Amino acid sequence: MGIKYFEEEKVFKLDSKGVSYVIALVDEEQFVGHAYFGKKLSDHHVRHLMRLNEGPLVPSKNNRDRAAFGDAFPFEYSTHGVGDFRESCLKVRTSRGHEACSLVYVSHKIYTGKPALAGLPATFGKEDECSTLELTCIDPVLKLEVTLVYSVFEDNDAITRSVRIKNTAKEDIFLEKALSACLQLDGLDYDYITLHGSWARERHIDRRPLSHGKHSASSLRGESSHQDQPFIALTTPSATQDFGEVYAMNFVYSGNFLAQAEGCQFDTTRVVMGINPENFCWKLASGDEFICPEVAMVYSDAGLGKMTRTFHDLYRNHLIRGEYKDKKRPILINNWEATYFDFNTDKLLAIAKEASSLGIEMLVMDDGWFGRRSDDNSSLGDWQVNEEKLSGGLSHLVEEVNKLGMKFGIWFEPEMVSPDSDLYRAHPDWAIQIPDRTATLCRNQYVLDISRKEVRDTVYNMIKSVLSSANIEYVKWDMNRPLCDLGSFALDAEHQGELSHRYMLGVYELQERLISDFPHLLLENCSGGGARFDAGMLYYSPQIWCSDDTDAIERLSIQEGTSLIYPLCSMGAHVSDCPNHTVGRRTPFSTRGHVALAGTFGYELDVTRIPAEDRGMIPSQVAMYHKYNDLVRTGDYYRIANYSENHQYDCWEVAAKDGSEILITYVEVLRRANFKTRTLRLKGLDPNAVYENEETKEQFTGDVLMYGGVQSPETWGDFSSRLMHFIKISK
Ligand code: GLA
Repeated sequence: MGIKYFEEEKVFKLDSKGVSYVIALVDEEQFVGHAYFGKKLSDHHVRHLMRLNEGPLVPSKNNRDRAAFGDAFPFEYSTHGVGDFRESCLKVRTSRGHEACSLVYVSHKIYTGKPALAGLPATFGKEDECSTLELTCIDPVLKLEVTLVYSVFEDNDAITRSVRIKNTAKEDIFLEKALSACLQLDGLDYDYITLHGSWARERHIDRRPLSHGKHSASSLRGESSHQDQPFIALTTPSATQDFGEVYAMNFVYSGNFLAQAEGCQFDTTRVVMGINPENFCWKLASGDEFICPEVAMVYSDAGLGKMTRTFHDLYRNHLIRGEYKDKKRPILINNWEATYFDFNTDKLLAIAKEASSLGIEMLVMDDGWFGRRSDDNSSLGDWQVNEEKLSGGLSHLVEEVNKLGMKFGIWFEPEMVSPDSDLYRAHPDWAIQIPDRTATLCRNQYVLDISRKEVRDTVYNMIKSVLSSANIEYVKWDMNRPLCDLGSFALDAEHQGELSHRYMLGVYELQERLISDFPHLLLENCSGGGARFDAGMLYYSPQIWCSDDTDAIERLSIQEGTSLIYPLCSMGAHVSDCPNHTVGRRTPFSTRGHVALAGTFGYELDVTRIPAEDRGMIPSQVAMYHKYNDLVRTGDYYRIANYSENHQYDCWEVAAKDGSEILITYVEVLRRANFKTRTLRLKGLDPNAVYENEETKEQFTGDVLMYGGVQSPETWGDFSSRLMHFIKISK
């Protein structure tokens, strides 16, 4: 059992194989304090980490300075309005208009395993893999019961947190803010790292020193967003890929969020994460319970690389589900950049025929197959096949594709409705809008009020009927605009503030229904590229489209930032056309293949029209994928060099868990004149084992490769790339 309670010391200690998290009950009133998160400790006298000998003393001994206590105590879950003026996690409003709340411990439960979070995505684990602590606290005045739930994955060094808030009073109460986690750190000498971006430039790594005051990443877009990512890491200032301490939090949620670090007055740091309190107000009627989504927390004592590998293992083993969890995905070809809206059965079959002859395994029909959709101005919501475009119908197309030995996949955008659609004409009140206010269009579409069951049922039934009409084995679930004009025709004034979260719960319910009804389906989430690449979505789909920017060089930074948290097996990555449709850059076909190999791998081009030389390379790229995908999907990922930092070259490594092989991808972005080869120091090898470079047959011991390094491979020209594959040949 990874969780202990030391009755005499009133200390809870959560231990994984390398990490401890310590909570202590303090004072006669039993405040719940944070004592420690970091490298694993022995059990002896950890309570002293609460530093209770320091002033201001606890209230029972010094009630005259209760406020000073409140403003300095490292609360496990901070509350608003009773003297803690730092960021609170919980803020309520009573029927009399008061906002104060204070929590004290009442009871706890410790057990093996981990409970599911009703209606929400969450990590999972068997009884022998994780254990859980439930700490129940109460505000005795409000009769609000708050249960802090912690699970520790013993094999994984990750800790997850969520919160249940129950109104046991007779009166209703409003939750104005209900975050999921709070972490108190000593000192504020940290760098903080977030992932920032925009459409086609998602998840670029942003790192700067922390200082006093509040520093945050957040979304109010109703999706985790292109712009910010529900992730924050604090590192010791000198931390690198391999050295230094890292404290990271990642939200297992896909909607509005707040991730914030606050440098406080006594040079301590408070980090909080949860649903963004803006656009949020939840009426908690007497007897009701609210569940705050989960936060995954990772501590690393060996730099960002170890943090990354801990998240990758956590998500691969304990978040991603379904048939494709541990399985190679079919190599797909998607017709979006090949045809955009201009396609028909013949064109798709021509692409499929050529693709299948080259070894590609699945055709995905993207946007434009339904209603009267010939551009992005109409038909979202009318999920019926356009038989003018698809002569012979969908089942004919799928059968023909299947005859070629290929699978078939299809695109939907279930949460949306076009003003020019039968669905909108029949149900204008199903769109999220505010009465009397001109609703803001985006890509000429509205967002459906997915919080409503009748809306979900109608959309789902349309999708189900399409999926049941033919042998469809993959769905790309898109979402191409953010939420604004927040108004639901189905919610009264007291509940309007619940819309954003209810919307997310509705999306999760729909996706759960889809994967339960179609358990063999491969689901790929997408949101105008990568605006919903988050841990919440990974619970439903094992892969997510990373970005609409498919340029190999742009992808280096996008994939570097994405893979800082998310496993390579989840990153949707395709070889696309040239010049690239987003930036106009020309890159070698081989480089596009090597960069896409770091993700799910597929194609996004018209294979009937690309240069013969490029087409001729596809069979060898297909073979490359089959040779390396098991390793890429399941191995340990190491960063060797970042183009985003050195502006010249990029390099990453994937090492097999059993140490048997490693694959290095090297991209020479800008070729330097008159320059010698670079030294690439490999990582994670057995120093005493002998490794052979498969291509050159040179043999090296692991220590030489790691501490001395290997020479970068020969390349010529900008944007060139090479793979190096080493096989362990002896112990
Ligand atoms: C989004 C997706 C693209 C494509 C288009 C279709 O932008 O990210 O891959 O599916 O929608 O409209």
